[in-house]
Amino acid sequence: MTNAQQDQAPRRQLVAGNWKMHGNAALLRNIISNLLDKEDLPEQVDVLLLPPFPYLSLAAELIGDQRLLLGAQNLSEHEQGAYTGEVSADMLSETGCGYVLVGHSERRELYAESDALVAEKFVIAQRAGLRPILCMGETAEQHERELTEVIIARQLQAVIDRAGIGAFATAVLAYEPVWAIGTGKSASPEQAQQVHAFIRQTIADVDARIAGQIQILYGGSVKPDNAADLFVQTDIDGGLIGGAALHADQFMEICNAG
Ligand code: 13P
Repeated sequence: MTNAQQDQAPRRQLVAGNWKMHGNAALLRNIISNLLDKEDLPEQVDVLLLPPFPYLSLAAELIGDQRLLLGAQNLSEHEQGAYTGEVSADMLSETGCGYVLVGHSERRELYAESDALVAEKFVIAQRAGLRPILCMGETAEQHERELTEVIIARQLQAVIDRAGIGAFATAVLAYEPVWAIGTGKSASPEQAQQVHAFIRQTIADVDARIAGQIQILYGGSVKPDNAADLFVQTDIDGGLIGGAALHADQFMEICNAG
């Protein structure tokens, strides 16, 4: 147990489904009606849907005043302006989003998003009242070279420096080892717990109270058969689910594992 965990109220679990660029309106309807049909979502679990931009309005409408949460997968680092194709934090907020991913490894790798840009997006999200979910993780090569903590510390520190530690009181963190994303090769619960504890301790070194309350999600090949073992770890507060979130029944099982 880290210092940060003493004398803290238990953290709620958050299970988020990141569709990436998959799915359609029919899938959205199916998943939401599945989740809303079931009365048995555990009380301590919040479920967050992260569909692609065009489905956010429909999702907000279908969710209504029910207990599901809504967020986006990306946002612009600019507040507004001539940025064709971009979507602002205010627009997401107005559409009913409460959360937004920043720094997903696919954005970092495929769209060359730097630590500095990710930090900018984190700040702009919060300015619009959104909770950023800051994603961090090492590549397979970095993992093999035992650089996991170096990489995570760098990705985290860039945002602490830009946003200030106080900003983490209204943020969520996610550890997503790149080698585990979409590969079917999840980190073991022990491996993931070790990195999560490191992340929490890094925050605790600056602010123990925030470290104790911040949710740290695990992402990377979470499936119905490994979710419970991951979520039960001391410093794992839920998951960021890709592939399995595209199947209503699997996503439901993972939510129930929280
Ligand atoms: P998979 O669950 O498909 O590995 O994706 C994880 C992820 O990137 C969620 O953001």
